[in-house]
Amino acid sequence: MIEVTVADITGLQVDAIVNAANSSLLGGGGVDGAIHRAAGPELLAYCRTLGGCRTGEAKLTPGFLLPARWVIHTVGPVWHGGSHGEERLLRSCYQSSFALALANGVRSIVFPCISTGVYGYPKDQAAGIALAMMRAHEERFERIIACCFSEGDAEHYRRLLAEPR
Ligand code: AR6
Repeated sequence: MIEVTVADITGLQVDAIVNAANSSLLGGGGVDGAIHRAAGPELLAYCRTLGGCRTGEAKLTPGFLLPARWVIHTVGPVWHGGSHGEERLLRSCYQSSFALALANGVRSIVFPCISTGVYGYPKDQAAGIALAMMRAHEERFERIIACCFSEGDAEHYRRLLAEPR
């Protein structure tokens, strides 16, 4: 089942939360900063051992102090106008995250609106990609949650979910 919620992702009780990280995997602002603060310093220490992550790929860590068992760190594309492979790379973030989740027995997973903050991806287009990828994986999970940080962001998802497939 696909759900849309407006929440701080760090408080959600699921098997895995996805982080919109940068390629260093060493923390940052936005949702990445919130996840690192809530998980505690052990997360950064663990991330230092991972050697970073390429755009469109994903890496798994424990959740440490988070309610979630796992964090799946993925690196979204920076928006450069849309003709620099942004769509392919954003799809790949979801694909890579779902693949890691399945390989680790995850049944419930929550995604933030990857790339739509400081990376500047247009929110409606990003929501369309996110939902298409979530629908493609819907049968293999108990819960797939789109976690928005504002009602306005959630509206993009709700409107698209209400459209016929
Ligand atoms: N819970 C849920 N969503 C959140 C939270 C939160 N606690 N905080 C922010 N958001 P961004 P990006 C939303 O900028 O665009 C970092 O510095 C936010 O409103 O966090 O992929 C990384 O280190 C937006 O909808 O990620 C990278 O350098 C969404 O999360 C860079 O930002 C994503 O915004 C990645 O940029």
